Amino acid sequence: MSDPAGGNPAVWNDVDDYLSALLAPEDEALTAALRDAGEAGLPPIGVSATAGKLLRLLAETQGARNILEIGTLAGYSTIWLARALPADGRLVTLEYEERHAAIARRNLARAGLDRIVEVRVGPALESLPKLADEHPPPFDLVFIDADKANNAHYVEWALRLTSAGSLIVVDNVVRGGRVTDADGDAPDVRGTRAALELIATHPRLSGTALQTVGVKGHDGFALARVLA
Ligand code: SAH
Ligand code: DHB
Ligand code: MG
Repeated sequence: MSDPAGGNPAVWNDVDDYLSALLAPEDEALTAALRDAGEAGLPPIGVSATAGKLLRLLAETQGARNILEIGTLAGYSTIWLARALPADGRLVTLEYEERHAAIARRNLARAGLDRIVEVRVGPALESLPKLADEHPPPFDLVFIDADKANNAHYVEWALRLTSAGSLIVVDNVVRGGRVTDADGDAPDVRGTRAALELIATHPRLSGTALQTVGVKGHDGFALARVLA
């Protein structure tokens, strides 16, 4: 999120531009995904390139074969994550909006990832129990990036769908500092704070969170390792 005065300090953008050009360059599939999302009027709220590369590296470090994403938008983070998978890997991504899912499917097909990525449409709290009923193999990485009000529920579902050694990543946990608003009633902040408290206290989780600044403003990620 941008600072309340409007816009990012130029240095955040300059550093992000430098780092992403050097370390997380976007190929044709990623730039086309952003272009088509913009032309369709989708909001530019996907992860940055450097964050996308971080997701890919985390999935590779996990040796991930199965990835779950909650919140697809146009499939930009999905492409970064799916590129960590082997040819017989699988990524399931959950999206509420049929319109977003349709654009994501096209972007994933253009990236050559449609055989390993499945976009499921509906409210994630309905898709998750259906997914659990299929008894999929444990997901090695879960990326939570949908409606923030449900973040604690998503961490709970992630716990059911993972096993020891899995990694849970939650996006947007800082939101320009709003996360420290302990007494407010904003549903997104309450949901994120509940997720962070669950990570802090759950016996099967060990986690932390990091602030980030860059082209997406001042925000952050939580990371939690499933212990047992
Ligand atoms: N992960 C994407 C960005 C996701 S933006 C990226 O980094 O590229 C958040 C997405 O979550 C939006 O597309 C929104 O439609 C979706 N969403 C919101 N509420 C949801 C819900 N209840 N279930 C599933 N998806 C939801
Ligand atoms: C916004 C950013 C995100 O990464 C997201 O998942 C949802 C919303 C935003 O900037 O509004
Ligand atoms: Mg996000």
